[in-house]
Amino acid sequence: MKKVYLVGAGAGDVELLTLKAVNILKKADVVLYDALVNTQCLEFCKKDTITINVGKRKNNHIKKQNEINKMLVQYGKQYNIVVRLKGGTPFVFGRGMEECEALAKAGLEPIVISGVSATTSVPESFMIPLIYRKYNDSYRTITGHDVEIFEDIITTYNKRESLIIMMGIHNLKQIVKILLNKSFPTNIPVAILSKGTTKEATKLVFTLDELLNKPLEFFDDIKTLTPAMIFVGYFDATNSIN
Ligand SMILES: C[S@@+](CC[C@H](N)C(=O)[O-])C[C@H]1O[C@@H](n2cnc3c(N)ncnc32)[C@H](O)[C@@H]1O
Repeated sequence: MKKVYLVGAGAGDVELLTLKAVNILKKADVVLYDALVNTQCLEFCKKDTITINVGKRKNNHIKKQNEINKMLVQYGKQYNIVVRLKGGTPFVFGRGMEECEALAKAGLEPIVISGVSATTSVPESFMIPLIYRKYNDSYRTITGHDVEIFEDIITTYNKRESLIIMMGIHNLKQIVKILLNKSFPTNIPVAILSKGTTKEATKLVFTLDELLNKPLEFFDDIKTLTPAMIFVGYFDATNSIN
């Protein structure tokens, strides 16, 4: 059975590529890559590797998901080594399983090569620990893309759990209101982590209360920081980090 490789590219910094990812990129005949993938990753490919940007960003889809699935199947049948290079790791909000299903349905074998997810590496790059015994025993990674789903899943505040909200920056104002309705403390830190692990990385920290009182323009401006995630929880700020 012919294989197609779903490979995690890491969260931004090219050095977050795993050795396994580099080894398969070196051999690839075709690479279909996402918008959030650092194109420096493609420098590991052969000179004649076909590289295609199939990136999807909010309101700016170069390719729709079903088109990407079709391309994967077509290239997978035609070429020897086809890589689907995805931001972070394939199975964290990456539609990776849909792609695996499309490949399997077409008689191709999907192989997943895990990457370094933004979920863990972005907070860590800003010295924000996901688990720090002083403050928490649990962290939750959740989509902020759909506020109804978000509201449904977040039941109520637990002081020993922090939140990592992906794809939520466009809904920041509604997310703040939901968290306050769920009894999150008004003074809990909310860190907006933008372009983590890259040279343009920035961290902004507010309390929920401060965010509630920001003008509308603030929420428009904040959208320009993508890719960005929202960390909600206590951590010790170190002055040396952004
Ligand atoms: C569709 S999800 C894909 C996540 C990816 N599969 C992973 O494992 O990291 C994309 C979201 O991850 C977050 N993200 C990805 N890269 C990031 C970065 N370098 N800095 C901050 N957030 C990032 C943003 O919330 C973005 O909207």
